[in-house]
This record gives sequence, structure tokens and C-alpha cells, in this order.
Amino acid sequence: MKDNLEKLLRNALSELSEVGSEEGLHEVRVKYLGKKGLLTQVMKGLGALPAEERPLVGQQANTVKERIEAQLDTVLQDLKKSRTEERLKSERIDVSLPGRRRPMGTRHPITLVIDDIVDIFAGLGFQVEEGPEIEMDYYNFEALNIPKDHPARDMQDTFFISDSVVLRTHTSPVQIRTMLRQPPPVRIIAPGTVYRCDSDATHSPMFHQIEGLLVDTGITFGDLKGILTNFVNQYFGSGTGVRLRPSFFPFTEPSAEVDIACVMCKGKGCRICKNTGWLEVLGAGMVDPEVFRHVSYDAEKVSGFAFGMGIERIAMLRYGISDMRLLFENDVRFLSQF
Ligand code: DAH
Repeated sequence: MKDNLEKLLRNALSELSEVGSEEGLHEVRVKYLGKKGLLTQVMKGLGALPAEERPLVGQQANTVKERIEAQLDTVLQDLKKSRTEERLKSERIDVSLPGRRRPMGTRHPITLVIDDIVDIFAGLGFQVEEGPEIEMDYYNFEALNIPKDHPARDMQDTFFISDSVVLRTHTSPVQIRTMLRQPPPVRIIAPGTVYRCDSDATHSPMFHQIEGLLVDTGITFGDLKGILTNFVNQYFGSGTGVRLRPSFFPFTEPSAEVDIACVMCKGKGCRICKNTGWLEVLGAGMVDPEVFRHVSYDAEKVSGFAFGMGIERIAMLRYGISDMRLLFENDVRFLSQF
């Protein structure tokens, strides 16, 4: 009987060691401990034993039962544990994997130039002003002392919307709008889009300018030169040569065109500066009294200077862009370089 029980225990433990599922475990439980199970039958047979053997065998049978139950429990826990582990493994999220990022956009070179130039003039105390792109003929021309027969009014250059309304051909009308709105002193910078009926490798029908205007008492041509030299040195690098050439604009007197030493060859002469060593970057001058008259400023009391520059040209010089059309084709291979 004793050997029988030992064998039964050994068999049960070895079967349990091979169990791989909860169903298998259930089968082993039924086989040994079920109503008709092998151990149950042994227990039932205890009564047939001689009375002196009964307690010992009974005790042994109980021990066997306990050990089988304990092992059933251990195997069950192991099964549950490995099942949980498997689930955790299969549901695992690798938080260290980089996510799918949206490609980062870049600012357009025109925007970069405008932002940088505005920053420099803001540092010199200028405030940003804006005006409409669809502009009155009066602000775009008349008030800027551009008379009716001036060549700038030629149909070739100006997009007319009606006899009295145009797409602004420059940012200079912002000067007029600002002075009509406020008394002196004025110290503004006005970036914006302008339009001219012209299109080739160096001209686009839509382009950008930045206008500057400073009006106060006692402003001289020296102030204009000082501010522009300071700007050129900040933007193109300190020590960049600056020169002013006499010129003509209807809204300034005297007027000047401003050149900087060629940024490509540093003044030695190259293809970009057409061997002159200089690059024209802006127009400027002292505000014409006739302009002050149109905005009811007293030209006897105040004076001022104005300047205007083309952004595209500056962007091309700054970033070495050879064809202006690249700036407006919106090819990301080009744009993402900035
Ligand atoms: N408006 C001029 C143009 O588009 C540029 C310009 C020249 C602006 C002289 C000014 C200035 O304010 O003083 O060609």
C-alpha cells in the first residue's frame, strides 16, 4: 500500500511537470483527486485495511493528497505567470522608439530678410507700419509728388485697377498714410508686397520692399547716412563699404542711391557687381517739402529722410541666389535650404 501511494505520488508529480495548459492541469486533477480519481479510490479502500494499519496509511494518503494539491497550485501559478508575461511581451510599447515627426518647415528667404532687417531698425527705434496692397493712385503717386505725366505712371509699370486705384508699385505710400495719421515725430519701417508689370530673371511682377521714414526737428542728410551705414554694417557685416551717389526721386530732395561694397568679391570686381566692386541696394533722400505739403507737415519746422529697398535683391545677395524666380516657384528642395 505504502509503495502504491509513493508510486502514485511520483506519477502525479511527473505528469504535472509536463503540463502546459490549464486544461491539462484540470485533467491531472480529475485523474488523481476527482470523485473516481486514483487517490480517491485509495482513500475509499482504507476501510478494508486492518485497523492497525489504517492510521498510518491514512496519514500517508493525506500527505500525498496535500503534496499533489500543493504542486497543482504551484503549476497553476506558474502557468498564470508565464501567460501574463507573454501578454505583456506581445502588448509591449517601445516608448524609446522615436515617434513619426512631421517634417519641420522653414521660413521663406524673403521672410528671413524682412525679419532680420526689421529687427535691426527696431533696435534703432523704428516702428513697423503696414499699408494696403490695393492702393489709391493719390497715395501711390500724387501725394509722393509723382505728377500725372511721370514715366513711373506708364501703363508698362503699373497695374491699374481703375483710373484712381492701383496695385501699389512701391511701399512709399505707407509714408503718406502714416504722416496723415499722426503728427511728427515719425520713425517707421514698412515692409510689404508691391507690384509692377515686369517679368524676367531679375524682375518679378510681385516683389517686396522695405520703406523707412524718419521725420523730426533738425534731421539732416548726415542722420540719413549715419542710420544707413549703421544698418549696412549690422546686416552685411561691420566694415562693409557704403557709398552714396546723387540720384533723383520725385519724393526726396536731395536724393541718393546707396551702394555697398560687393559682398561676393569684397570690392575687387566680379560678375555679380559687373566689375565695379559696388552693389546698389537702396534709394534714399531727404523728404521733399512738396510731400510734407500733401500731409500738412510744416516743412519750415520739421525735416526728415526716407529710404526704400528691394528685398529680393538683398535676399539674392545674402544667400547667393542667382535667379529671382526661384524665390516664387515654391520648390521645397530650394526652400528647405534656408
Ligand atoms: N519708392 C522707390 C522705388 O520703388 C524707392 C525709394 C527711393 C524709396 C527713395 C524712398 C526713397 O523712400 O527715399 O523705386
